[in-house]
Amino acid sequence: MRTKVAIIGAGPAGLLLGQLLHKFGIDNVILERQSPDYVLGRIRAGLLEEGTVALLDEVGAATRAHAEGLLHEGIELAFSGRRHRIDMKAATGKTVMIYGQTEVTLDLMNARKAAGLTSIYEAADVEPHDFDGGHPRVTWVKDGVTHEIDCDFIAGCDGFHGISRASVKPPAIETFERVYPFGWLGILSETPPVSHELIYSNHARGFALCTMRSMHRSRYYVQCSLDDHIDQWPDDRFWDELKRRLDQKAVDQLVTGPSIEKSIAPLRSFVAEPMRFGRMFLAGDAAHIVPPTGAKGLNLAASDAHYLSVALREYYDEKSSAGIDAYSDKALKRVWKAVRFSWWMTSMLHKFPDTGTIGARIQLAELDYVTSSKAAMTSLAENYVGLPF
Ligand code: APR
Ligand code: PHB
Repeated sequence: MRTKVAIIGAGPAGLLLGQLLHKFGIDNVILERQSPDYVLGRIRAGLLEEGTVALLDEVGAATRAHAEGLLHEGIELAFSGRRHRIDMKAATGKTVMIYGQTEVTLDLMNARKAAGLTSIYEAADVEPHDFDGGHPRVTWVKDGVTHEIDCDFIAGCDGFHGISRASVKPPAIETFERVYPFGWLGILSETPPVSHELIYSNHARGFALCTMRSMHRSRYYVQCSLDDHIDQWPDDRFWDELKRRLDQKAVDQLVTGPSIEKSIAPLRSFVAEPMRFGRMFLAGDAAHIVPPTGAKGLNLAASDAHYLSVALREYYDEKSSAGIDAYSDKALKRVWKAVRFSWWMTSMLHKFPDTGTIGARIQLAELDYVTSSKAAMTSLAENYVGLPF
């Protein structure tokens, strides 16, 4: 087998990259370890920046997002028993779209199928080879048989635990990491959202977030201990804890119901530098992870896919390596800004075990400042709706 770009991983980064390359006439093959159903079963965040929606539009995969997605013009920050609105539309002219990552993945999968592009699911032992030389290739095992594909480039879009980044040995790669001392316990329920916009709550018992997937499906999170297990969190305990962390009006309006999904996720900031190793590029979670406070993960995967697709188009159409040479620096510039923003939102909103009462008071002062200074509000809004790319 041979292709121009072998993409490892069929998450949002790999699927979007595949469609963008196809649009530019660059053939590509996707190798994914899991089955399509497994990939679609993972519940992730659900907030798209306008730039991400524009990329889905570019590849003709945004029809359902435009029909079913919810446009939000603001968010609310809750602290000291009150809610304060940040009007993102007024501050930036931009909105964000609530539309689940699972739906984005499904729409991209369908677009790929419609375009007749090759995707190999349930590929075991995927391995990138010889990306330091001129003839990279990828091998994998399917149904007990080893296969190989030759390519010009490898795109490592295989998430945080993938094989692409793991194939690069120090000192060629440098990593930066912070693991936060808590997790998010999330549930999905077939109930109307408590409010028409998202509520981010700083509370003495810990952070809480009220978000949604539609006007009849809600997603709620509470900060939990890293030692917690979902078995310790029956629905009643979850709803009680959430209520304790919300203002009275929200408690009165909250509609509870059985959870249809429940999971605990750790919070981590992580960046690998550079994002290019010879003829292999990293994109999305394979190169960086941000804590979900601010929902930047999927949007960074989209901007990486954009930068990489444009760089590869330049390589094939203009016979110039300038774009691929600049990819890592360009992508990392935007990545680090989102890493900073997600870290800052996380720091301002969560209960930290080691910062004491002074840390909690400083958070309240910062929240008061952010919700009363036009400059601070604009800065939050500008980052939340997504920096340009
Ligand atoms: N071989 C082949 N495929 C692999 C391998 C491997 N060794 N390891 C992982 N994969 C696949 C995973 O099964 C997954 O489908 O790579 C894909 C990576 O997808 P994501 O984890 O969704 O990462 P990405 O596409 O970069 O999307 C980033 O996803 O994790 C969220 O918060 C994150 O929203 C962000 C988005
Ligand atoms: C979500 O809808 O799951 C979501 C939204 C915003 C966040 C994090 C998660 O900051």
